[in-house]
Amino acid sequence: MSSKKPYNCNISALGHYVPEKVIDNKYFENYLDTTDEWITERTGIKERRYLEKDQPTSYAATKAVEELLKNRNMSPDEIELIVLTTVTPDMIYPSTACIIQNNIGAKNCWGFDLIAACSGFIFALYTGAQFIKSGTHKKVIVCGADKMSLIADPDDRNNIVLFGDGAAAFLLEPGEDENYGIIDAVARIDGSGGRNLCQLAGGSLHPASHETVDKKMHFIYQDGRTVFKDAVKGMADVSLEIMKRNNLKSEDVAYLVPHQANHRIIAAIAGRMGVSMDKVMMNIHKYGNTTTASIPLCIYEYWADGKLKKDDNIILSSFGAGYTYGSIYVKWTL
Ligand code: COA
Repeated sequence: MSSKKPYNCNISALGHYVPEKVIDNKYFENYLDTTDEWITERTGIKERRYLEKDQPTSYAATKAVEELLKNRNMSPDEIELIVLTTVTPDMIYPSTACIIQNNIGAKNCWGFDLIAACSGFIFALYTGAQFIKSGTHKKVIVCGADKMSLIADPDDRNNIVLFGDGAAAFLLEPGEDENYGIIDAVARIDGSGGRNLCQLAGGSLHPASHETVDKKMHFIYQDGRTVFKDAVKGMADVSLEIMKRNNLKSEDVAYLVPHQANHRIIAAIAGRMGVSMDKVMMNIHKYGNTTTASIPLCIYEYWADGKLKKDDNIILSSFGAGYTYGSIYVKWTL
């Protein structure tokens, strides 16, 4: 971001949605060669939530945005832009942003979907903030929503236990004090890692066919061990870079908000940053990896529980398919 800041960008309201259906680790013991102990120890996940069959990603996103509007006591017509990030859009097109706009009846906005997998929310927040900082927009909604239960192969113990469904949304508005809000961001892509974590079929490279379905190419593919190593390095690198750039020492950080992929990845990053685990936001035990919803859902819960306070320095950090990775420094205002 430029050091010249015509407007600053505050996070001024939050909303979230987690599905009612809870899937605990025992559920998988019933039909897979796995155990609650293995999943808990190797990932930190105890349970996750699943949307129902007739509830697409837009269902969760709409609920999150509706809660946000209620919390801000705001009419949908005031929204100027919706940036929606997901890897499980309702359809390839129209965009899920359009579906949400129609669901909530927002008559004066535009919007689009952004794909950056597990870094989707960081990239969307960085993008949304530009429209506020430039002064062209006054009310921008950034929403992360995913129905991961749909693209994780239920018979693949390596993947199915990791993921869950959910959504969360932030409202961005201009603020008066440039020392608050979204202060800085670092974002990176590295396509050389693309083959390690991907959904091979359904696009123009491997369009849907009987063969792609038979070969399970519409499900998540990942080389877990490689992704684990690369995620630790990628997230630690960008988080340390943003701390250095903003003269933040580990004791200045109120919370590290890492993408909720695996508690061992999170502990390794916190260790490299010198941040103690009591300063790390975590809800992976309840929801697993909800991809684009993971970071905002975590922030929502800490804020709703009164654990996140005005003036707190928080460092958001993510890593995902692409590879994509990034970090955002926020000085909290709510
Ligand atoms: N239950 C029991 N055993 C399992 C299992 C499960 N649910 N999933 C995998 N295993 C097995 C593997 O098959 C392997 O068995 P093998 O040695 O007979 O082949 C064994 O456990 C060890 O596999 P390994 O990959 O070394 O396990 P791990 O401790 O690294 O944990 C992951 C596996 C997937 C949890 C871990 O690699 C990981 O979290 N990777 C990153 C994934 C991720 O977060 N991706 C998204 C990033 S945005």
